[in-house]
Amino acid sequence: MPALPSAVRGAVITGWGTALPPKVLTNHDLEQMVDTNDAWIVERSGIRERHVGGTTIGLSIESGRAALDMSGVELGEIDALVLATTTPDTQWGNAAAVQNELGLRCGAFDINAACSGFVYGLVNAHGLIAMGAKKVLLIGTDSLSRIVDWEDRNTAVLFGDGSGAVVLEAVEGPGQLLAWDLDADGSLGRLLWADIGGFIHMEGKEVFRRAVRIMVDSATKSLDHAGLTADDITLVVPHQANIRIISAACERLGIPIERAVSVLERTGNTSSASVPLALADALDSGRVKEGDLLLLVGFGGGMTAASAVLRWGGGAPAGGPA
Ligand code: UT7
Repeated sequence: MPALPSAVRGAVITGWGTALPPKVLTNHDLEQMVDTNDAWIVERSGIRERHVGGTTIGLSIESGRAALDMSGVELGEIDALVLATTTPDTQWGNAAAVQNELGLRCGAFDINAACSGFVYGLVNAHGLIAMGAKKVLLIGTDSLSRIVDWEDRNTAVLFGDGSGAVVLEAVEGPGQLLAWDLDADGSLGRLLWADIGGFIHMEGKEVFRRAVRIMVDSATKSLDHAGLTADDITLVVPHQANIRIISAACERLGIPIERAVSVLERTGNTSSASVPLALADALDSGRVKEGDLLLLVGFGGGMTAASAVLRWGGGAPAGGPA
């Protein structure tokens, strides 16, 4: 993937929000549904509970509204709404339904890059801003519980539902994004897939092995583009699939696990929502300071991978017409 051109108009994140359905499914609940146990799930994945229920559109409205409220932008100022999801409620128009409910009057489209979707969306949103958009609402949402086979212990223990959103605003100058990488290898598509109308299927061990490799590859490319090393990174915000995957990737990158954000214990794998949920958790808990370097990195079905390096902080809002 190409490095960022030097003169591109940048963006900063000025608001964020999350949504989790109220219903919590614990590992102990799952013991009643499939042949599994809490100790196995915690040891092999790090997950203790996940939220289930709600719809992709409904969760997106909730997280999107929270992000808009925090940013304080006028609704009429949003130029585009990008919704990353791999579990749309309807074949098309999910982002448009969210746009309408939120009272926005802007372009709205869905993108699907499975669990890499939010980082793909982040890069796309920056592209829109580079081309003149001034304010973009980016949402990552998945309601995976609807496509989980609750009789399949290989997958039922891993996934959950949720949503995370950010508002991006154009600034004069470079903005937060220092580098990005988008990657895909379609030859690995059948390791993790769901046919339309079907359930999630997964070759767990092989996905694990490949996931570590493609996360590290993508993160390394972004770090190289940014002219940074692993030592420079304050926090890694990784896709929340399995704590052992996060730990193995961090070890290979040479980043101590203490510098990785993890929410999967409470959320399970929420696909497109997992990176923004982890990012919001780090921001809300005060783990991110002005000037900190964040490495966002996702991987998922397809197989896809994506990463981005952000330097956290403000920037003067861009003037002039969009
Ligand atoms: O967004 C990307 C989505 N997917 C992923 O990231 C998944 C990547 N893969 C993984 O996270 C891991 O491979 C799993 C968590 C799915 C499985 O962990 P593992 O360490 O690879 O376990 P395994 O598949 O090798 O299974 C070990 C044992 C097997 O029994 P035997 O053959 O050793 O007797 C399985 O039958 O654990 C058994 N097992 C279970 N036991 C209790 C498999 N699933 C379960 C279960 N509960 N849910």
